[in-house]
Amino acid sequence: MKILPSIGETQSCCHEWKRQGKLVGFVPTMGALHQGHLSLVRQARLENDFVVVSVFVNPTQFAPNEDFSSYPRNFQQDQDLLQTEKVDLIFAPTVEEVYPQQHNHTIVEVSGPITAGLCGLARPTFFRGVATVVAKLFNIIQPTRAYFGQKDAQQLAMIKQMVFDLNFDLEVVGLPIVREKDGVAMSSRNAYLSLEQRKSARVLFQSLEMAKARILDGEKSVSYIVSEMKQMIESAEQTQIDYVEIVSSQTFEAIATIQPEQRILIVIAVYVGGTRLIDNLQLQIS
Ligand code: PAF
Repeated sequence: MKILPSIGETQSCCHEWKRQGKLVGFVPTMGALHQGHLSLVRQARLENDFVVVSVFVNPTQFAPNEDFSSYPRNFQQDQDLLQTEKVDLIFAPTVEEVYPQQHNHTIVEVSGPITAGLCGLARPTFFRGVATVVAKLFNIIQPTRAYFGQKDAQQLAMIKQMVFDLNFDLEVVGLPIVREKDGVAMSSRNAYLSLEQRKSARVLFQSLEMAKARILDGEKSVSYIVSEMKQMIESAEQTQIDYVEIVSSQTFEAIATIQPEQRILIVIAVYVGGTRLIDNLQLQIS
């Protein structure tokens, strides 16, 4: 397994694989890897000749008041895990390598309903930071396929839109949320939770399951379902709701009434203590 910090060397290596007609699978990460990331890596390993993982905590997707400096970093453990998964190349650049000119750089912004609401409201610069770095990574690696988790549903939809709009020649693969035994979605930020907060975090998935059960029982009113979810979430210790919504899983526009044939996404963001957790559940209405 190669570990390269340089854009030039990573580009030459990946372009040589592509020149030989090989399939290159790419998993972008910010490190602090967990089973969610590893599920993406395993799928990439199954479907491609070479697998590249980037480990880069991208400063442009954090607002000044967010956790860029304290974001969990554990590069030695990440390396060991990726070695076990038989990854071919880790691209691990410095911030200066990716953004050599601090105040002069191109920003990629996907505008419209996919990025306007939900996390786009609480984190107004987040999506353009992600789009910018992912566009750069796609240009450096030029993968055949790139793998993202459905937990960041809005991020995944935005990247699909960017790939379509900017004509990137690659396939975006979205894979299901990986959960702990008690239902909590895997996230590098779970490491911030105290034991008590970790218990409270279960309420996110519980509220999604409750909403799903109500919908399958025939409940049509989104405001009713959302208010039940909010009550449930607020009953758990140290929780503060950012949003609870039901949106179209294609357009991310809010839905008022559940109707046949809809593909919906129940989406939530909740602060547990000081940690902002997101989760979602996709449902095809029959
Ligand atoms: O989902 C993430 O870990 C990040 O947003 C990504 C896609 C690696 C871009 O920095």
